[in-house]
Amino acid sequence: MTEVAVRREPVQVRGEVLTRRRVGAYHLIEIAAGGIAERFRSGQFVALSVGGPVSALVLRRSFAVYRATPVGAYSGTVQIVVGVHGRGTEWLAGVKPGEPLDVVGPLGTPFRLPATPAGTLLVGGGYGSAPLFSLADALQARECRVDFLLGAGTHDRIFGELEAKRTAGAVTVTTDDGSYGRKGTVADALPDEIERTGAQAVYACGPMPMLRAVGAVAGSYGLPCQVAVEESMACGIGVCMTCVLPVVGEDGVTRMSRSCVDGPVFDHERVRWADVGTVPADALGAL
Ligand SMILES: Cc1cc2nc3c(=O)[nH]c(=O)nc-3n(C[C@H](O)[C@H](O)[C@H](O)COP(=O)(O)OP(=O)(O)OC[C@H]3O[C@@H](n4cnc5c(N)ncnc54)[C@H](O)[C@@H]3O)c2cc1C
Ligand code: FES
Repeated sequence: MTEVAVRREPVQVRGEVLTRRRVGAYHLIEIAAGGIAERFRSGQFVALSVGGPVSALVLRRSFAVYRATPVGAYSGTVQIVVGVHGRGTEWLAGVKPGEPLDVVGPLGTPFRLPATPAGTLLVGGGYGSAPLFSLADALQARECRVDFLLGAGTHDRIFGELEAKRTAGAVTVTTDDGSYGRKGTVADALPDEIERTGAQAVYACGPMPMLRAVGAVAGSYGLPCQVAVEESMACGIGVCMTCVLPVVGEDGVTRMSRSCVDGPVFDHERVRWADVGTVPADALGAL
């Protein structure tokens, strides 16, 4: 049988909002975007035009893909989870079914999956939990055990607890204020969860300080940890260098890697966390 190659390069499509609904503090938006869903692998993201056709909000906004459904009545849909932050996300929180939405994707590098079945712990912070569910599917398809550790500042900012309970093994929830679940951050709870689940690999997505802390704990147990970073992005396609962060290559040399095309998924141990936001003097090409 001839194997049909899957086309992976990103496409720009005129999508359409299918549904938008509130989920806790977030908005879950489903977009008909044929061409993107079938190219998608977990960890990748989409970049949306915001504000409508005559908007002054020129730059696209990036969102991790929560779910991608390649086939169906709308020839491919993607779902994103939006937290309101500034003018662009405020506009997205008000979109209505039937509205057009210009979408570019899938962008960036996906999570890498274990070659053989392994115990995996998926750690999400706030809406950062969203991309972990398609990852869980991919891991389970490879017969990996999947456990979740989900955290947020407050209860309404936890995303996906019920879905995690339906699909995975152990699920632990933390809130910074103790309003729900275990009090503290996911990094505080991580040692117990690693020991309880016997995880062999950790995947994390959420705010940068959380990723730094989670990776440090995973590293102290000798576990590999992949993180999906969220650096501010302007172009999203590798042109403007807005999203760079210092990453050590296999050759030991630090380069300013673009998180939109070289990431957003990186091995935690390769990111120079203490130098994020700077250009270290020893980075290749730094003055
Ligand atoms: C890979 C990735 C995945 C993400 N996933 C999600 C998600 O799943 N859910 C979610 O709610 N949010 C997600 N975000 C964050 C989301 O992109 C921002 O919250 C959103 O861009 C805010 O837009 P705004 O107009 O509301 O905010 P504003 O702060 O008003 O505008 C942000 C805009 O400023 C631009 N910008 C920021 N810094 C710079 C700079 N230094 N130079 C030039 N331009 C700059 C940004 O590109 C963006 O266009 C993700 C971000 C990334 C990078
Ligand atoms: S956002 Fe422009 S290079 Fe990454």
